[in-house]
Amino acid sequence: MSKPQLLVTSALPYANGHIHLGHLVEYIQTDIWVRFQKLRGRRCIYICADDTHGTAIMIRARQEGVREEDLLARMHEAHTRDFAGFQIAFDHYGSTHCEENRQLCWEIWQSLRKAGMIYEEEVRQLYDAQAGTFLADRFVKGVCPNCRAPNQYGDSCDRCGHHYDPIDLIDPVSTLSGARPEVRTALHLFVDIEKQHAFLDQWTQNADHLQPEIANYLRGHFLGQPLRPWDVSRPAPYFGFEIPDSPGNYWYVWFDAPIGYMASTWQWCKKEGEDFDAWWASPDTHIYHFIGKDITYFHTLFWPAMLRVSRYQLPRRIQIHGFLTVNGEKMSKSKGTFILASTYLKYLDPAYLRYYYASKLTPRVDDLDLNFEDMAEKADADLVGKVVNLASRTARFVVSTGLASSWPDDGGLFAQTAADGIEIAEAYEACDFNRAMRLILAAADRANQYVERQEPWKLAKDPGQTEQLQKVCTVALNLFRQIAVYLAPVLPRLAEQTGRLLHRPIQHWDEAQKPLLGSPVRPFEHMLKRVDRQAISAMIDESRQPEEAVQASGSRTTVPSAKPVPAETAGAVTESGASVSSSPRWDDDEAALRAEPIAPQCTMEDFQKVDLRVARIVAAEDVPKAKKLLKLTLSLGGEHRRNVFAGVKGVYKPEELVGRLVILAANLAPRKMAFGTSEGMILAAGPGDGEIYLLSPDPGAKPGQRIH
Ligand code: MSP
Ligand code: ZN
Repeated sequence: MSKPQLLVTSALPYANGHIHLGHLVEYIQTDIWVRFQKLRGRRCIYICADDTHGTAIMIRARQEGVREEDLLARMHEAHTRDFAGFQIAFDHYGSTHCEENRQLCWEIWQSLRKAGMIYEEEVRQLYDAQAGTFLADRFVKGVCPNCRAPNQYGDSCDRCGHHYDPIDLIDPVSTLSGARPEVRTALHLFVDIEKQHAFLDQWTQNADHLQPEIANYLRGHFLGQPLRPWDVSRPAPYFGFEIPDSPGNYWYVWFDAPIGYMASTWQWCKKEGEDFDAWWASPDTHIYHFIGKDITYFHTLFWPAMLRVSRYQLPRRIQIHGFLTVNGEKMSKSKGTFILASTYLKYLDPAYLRYYYASKLTPRVDDLDLNFEDMAEKADADLVGKVVNLASRTARFVVSTGLASSWPDDGGLFAQTAADGIEIAEAYEACDFNRAMRLILAAADRANQYVERQEPWKLAKDPGQTEQLQKVCTVALNLFRQIAVYLAPVLPRLAEQTGRLLHRPIQHWDEAQKPLLGSPVRPFEHMLKRVDRQAISAMIDESRQPEEAVQASGSRTTVPSAKPVPAETAGAVTESGASVSSSPRWDDDEAALRAEPIAPQCTMEDFQKVDLRVARIVAAEDVPKAKKLLKLTLSLGGEHRRNVFAGVKGVYKPEELVGRLVILAANLAPRKMAFGTSEGMILAAGPGDGEIYLLSPDPGAKPGQRIH
């Protein structure tokens, strides 16, 4: 019997946000696994799509004054481009906003009806009369009913962790309009998932469908009590599919999203002339979902329950990963560690990140930390230093002769690495990429030791050693090729380059089992360069956003939500939240701008003419005859001193200025004044006349540093 074919998915990213390095943990992980399966000769397809429905998209389209469809088209293009940039090779990347999805939703809905699992109930919900819409939990803020913390979202409190109903919030405010929402009643449709409790007990706990920690989590948090019904409809206005047998109501985005896996497969089937049922309704297909831990609940309880009553296959396995932290912390816009895929690609090679994630990913649900210095060191030391170096140090010596035509004595090295293939494949199969990378690197270490012992560069200088040189390089390049085969799922481009170098494309895992002999060798061409540290800093700088914008955008929960009837997830709001939130915390008016409008545009060159420096005030004294001036002595570090007259008298006392850091315009022409020469100017804001605010850098800045 032949092995079952594989259908693999990653979670469908929300269409209202761009792809960032956190998302990429998942897409890179899945892509590696799929590439591995394909390299082993398994029939396997990789399916994904944009998750397009819900309030967030609707609101965003409204705010931008465009149709939802236009917004979706734009995001689809951006997502596709970002994924391609990271060499994520979907067989099909669709959208949940398509006819195939509408039809499948309807079909599964009818199955749920037939199984007696749908019922109706009136729900009291917050309604924003100004915006004309019911408010999803993340669009309401107010005071926590439990601990009275202000400014909490409608579903749970950041301070005390309490989950509540948004109508229980004290002093609720709609983040859409700033209006106080009212409570209105609407009819909702519910899925009575408790009817599948016995099935879910069995399905989640057996047959290796889930990682053990996930099975335990579900047992501990949900399955020990009756499963709460799932509120699966939203009243108009809502961007989604209208429920055919309940006009005016729409399926909640999380109902149609997983069905999107099927819809996207159907589109692929139409494109390829394949039979849809052979993929979704046949036990000859094994379905694998890769997801992050925050969406565990939907995939491990609702989704199997929905599929169970339909005529479709349940997933064979749901593989769940943890969350990305950067430098040990949650990604932060103000620190510049919330990095978009497109920003990364402007500065760095995707191979670095693919390899780094691979080296960190295990079969467990642990969070994973990205440290850029660590990433750079690993890429330099492992990929450039140990892998690519094998080829760059040896290929040129055999360009004229090609590889030897019989296998030289290599002390069993090739055979050992060939045998390692079994263990490496097991590690890939089990999603233990960390282990796979360690095994591969050990093989690279052995190969490097061989090259160092044989010293081909010395052999090349001795005309009597040409044959030996060819043997040594034949061994080295074959060991290199084995490593390129094993790394191919992670580094597809390296595999292609190796194929070109040795005139034989890498198409199958088993190519690591037999050496290449007698084949020509092309001159070595650049494969991967060392990581440019300045590019990393530039990428972080570009990603940094002012604190204010960040606070307004809220944050995403990083633990599986224990709430049985989930809101629009925080992720949907994170991206759009910055623009929709009219936070009551800042009520800056425009008086300052009106008093002094923005100056005419200048060029970057104009700006760069002014040399701004960090400086420390080391002395300050009154200028008795001047009304507004203090005389300041500034240090630029070492012995470098400047005298500056600053108009801050009466606002700052001389003694309170000594020691503080300021910003100095350091290359202004000196100016003679009645009391002496001023050698520059320090920067301050404010209209003057008692209202002056000196600028200073964040702590840590050093006198003399230039401001860019
Ligand atoms: N649209 C839903 C999924 C629907 S699937 C039928 C969604 N979208 S998302 O864009 O927020 O996230 C997509 C995937 O990326 C999820 O599996 C999520 O866990 C993962 N990640 C998003 N941010 C992440 C990190 N910071 N770290 C690791 N994975 C993260 O959820
Ligand atoms: Zn609270």
